[in-house]
Amino acid sequence: MEENGDGKSTPPPIIEFDGMMLPPFTPLREDVKKRFEEIRNLACRKDDIILVTYPKSGTHWVWEIICMLLKNKAEYSKEVKEFLFLEAIPDLSILDNIPSPRPLNTHLPYRWLPTQHIESGGKIVHVVRNPKDVAVSFYHHVFNTKEFGDISDFKSFYENIYMGSVQPMGGWFAYETEFEQAKINETSNAIFTVQYESLKKNPIQEIKRLSKYLDVDVNDEIIAEIADKCSFRRLKEANGTVKDHSRITRRSPKYKEIMLKMYRKGEIGDWKNHFTVAINEQFDAKFKEVMKDSKIEVQYE
Ligand code: A3P
Repeated sequence: MEENGDGKSTPPPIIEFDGMMLPPFTPLREDVKKRFEEIRNLACRKDDIILVTYPKSGTHWVWEIICMLLKNKAEYSKEVKEFLFLEAIPDLSILDNIPSPRPLNTHLPYRWLPTQHIESGGKIVHVVRNPKDVAVSFYHHVFNTKEFGDISDFKSFYENIYMGSVQPMGGWFAYETEFEQAKINETSNAIFTVQYESLKKNPIQEIKRLSKYLDVDVNDEIIAEIADKCSFRRLKEANGTVKDHSRITRRSPKYKEIMLKMYRKGEIGDWKNHFTVAINEQFDAKFKEVMKDSKIEVQYE
């Protein structure tokens, strides 16, 4: 939100680009095409890891797990995920000073990922969450941030934004089917997919699988400790007590308050408290139609 001179706040203009509705991060407001192209042309290192997710799929959670695995220690990173968030950081050149391996992250769809990284078979961790819980989490997020205007109730968010004519990041369906196709086409097994729900139900098993993919030799004791420290309750607490939000709050004073609300419920199935029977039926019909050729299996509970 911006001050408009008389002390009142006005929502920032909504940004649209390449069929996507985008959040009003400063680099996107300044020149969205330029930032997208900078990301696509990013100079990558062989050991970069890019965490790529549709928003509200558990990005902060998986980012923290990746950081711990890379350190081989169940120790929270003082840095926040936003520090390496490609579409939001003010200047991509700061990435030059980050030691390897860099746990970068973005919500850009596959076609906009750094070409060099893709061509060299660089590691991509992709998190998929069921689209009904994503909708609910997204609703609460935009209700708090007002990043897509003043949203009042879930139904209007669902109809006008989540399933609207131009959807956030082009919409869950397009985003996930594009990723699925990329995974089918690629030959170097560079894309690792983790499902939010599997990670929630079997954290140790999923973190172990991720450690193998990342090629890090982390013992079972540390894996169990990572699972515990990254459980919803503990990570939420650490977000308030351990994380250094100052670098980001300097850019955006409301950021810390928003960040604290980011860890909301962390559950599977909250959609049942928000979807009416009619919305649910409509969504299931849409899913059946759009995903008829897809093998993506989502877990609603
Ligand atoms: P809810 O709003 O449903 O609670 P992202 O990081 O991509 O923005 O995703 C945010 C969602 O991930 C929020 O979902 C948040 O609570 C959830 N989340 C964060 N940490 C989590 C954890 N350790 N376990 C489960 N869910 C977590």
